[in-house]
Amino acid sequence: MRISVIGCGYLGAVHAACMAELGHDVVGVDVDESKVAELAAGRAPFFEPGLPEVLARGVASGRLRFTTDMAETAGARVHFVAVGTPQTAGSHAADLRYVDAAVGGLLPHLSDGDLVVGKSTVPVGTAARLGDLVRASSGADLAWNPEFLREGFAVADTLSPDRFVYGVPGGEGGERATALLDEVYAGPLAAGMPRLVTDYATAELVKVSANAFLATKISFINAMAEIAEATGADVTQLADAIGHDARIGRRFLNAGLGFGGGCLPKDIRAFQARADELGLESLAFLADVDAVNLRRRRRVVDLAVELLGEVEGARVAVLGVAFKPDSDDVRDSPALDVARALHGLGAQVVVYDPQAAGTAAKLAPELAYAADLEEALAGADVVLLLTEWQQFRQLDPAVVGALVAHRRIVDARNVLALPAWRHAGFEARGLGRP
Ligand code: UDX
Repeated sequence: MRISVIGCGYLGAVHAACMAELGHDVVGVDVDESKVAELAAGRAPFFEPGLPEVLARGVASGRLRFTTDMAETAGARVHFVAVGTPQTAGSHAADLRYVDAAVGGLLPHLSDGDLVVGKSTVPVGTAARLGDLVRASSGADLAWNPEFLREGFAVADTLSPDRFVYGVPGGEGGERATALLDEVYAGPLAAGMPRLVTDYATAELVKVSANAFLATKISFINAMAEIAEATGADVTQLADAIGHDARIGRRFLNAGLGFGGGCLPKDIRAFQARADELGLESLAFLADVDAVNLRRRRRVVDLAVELLGEVEGARVAVLGVAFKPDSDDVRDSPALDVARALHGLGAQVVVYDPQAAGTAAKLAPELAYAADLEEALAGADVVLLLTEWQQFRQLDPAVVGALVAHRRIVDARNVLALPAWRHAGFEARGLGRP
């Protein structure tokens, strides 16, 4: 099937490449010329495991191309809208300008029987509004098919998601939309992936409520970490113990520096803003979820200050600056926040991240970036493990101890065995661990 994908960021670039991998003929459209040039050459413009391979295969097969020209969407049967919905400056609401521009830009190129498919995360009510617009201006229809991919696992999550959700209009339009989407996803559906067909509002809400639940789960365990810190309990053992209850589950119960990234923080804020607009108090608790999460960042800064005594001029080795491992994304990164706060207090912060130094340096050029782990550790007065890359999980206290000036470490992701570090002469702190 001929498919277009509007927006080639984390979501759209992966979606376009994966649709080609499923055998479709795909054109990806983006306004950013340099990104389009990279993608057209079969190169990934950001770090995402597995993406370079599917991109290169798609481009080499001739089934995948990229352009800045919206007119090249003409002739495609299904048009995915995968542009960003950032937080609006000065408010918590989602900024829909890119979604509106993408759908508006598609309208002149749509033909009878085409299907526009929204993938972006939007406030409930958006699909109904855009569906009316698409139907009034063309013979096309609109569905909402939210995306649940995690960075670092984006290719696998796109090709074999936990579930497909189709938000479709009522009547024959809905049946046609469902049939077209079934054709797009025929491969994974045949492999047994579950698929749920809903109305627009439900599909929109599935996405934001899933993210709100995940954020709440993380903040719940981080709230327990605060209690553990006040009482001498160990939150990692607590998580293991409650996680054995299948109704609770151990996944997404890792206490630490909390959540960041391009999705969870802004999505829970936009969801609250939408509830406020609807005159509902139902999501007031998400303000606490957000607050617990942000408090963890301050806690790590406080721990570093406590270990250092004098911050001014102290050398701080920051290990990891991406918002999570296996990503070069630093959007709303807790690690970057901590690094910047310590720099603001006068510390000499040296960052090492296996992939994210380049993206971080654009946002925070005031920090120093080491080329390798050893350079970051050399002469450090305190080491902060802020993103749990595999390389850092395996750190050897003896090796680190030989490089640093003072044996002090904060494990803000609770991935190190602190007794071994203490045995090697380190003052070692975790979050929610004695
Ligand atoms: C998230 C959702 O998981 C995904 O379904 C949605 O489509 C987009 O948002 P992503 O932002 O890629 O995906 O990251 P995720 O793996 O969910 O992690 C989010 C943040 O939570 C990271 O900063 C991570 O470090 C943190 N986290 C995760 C914890 O602090 N503890 C945990 O137990 C799990």
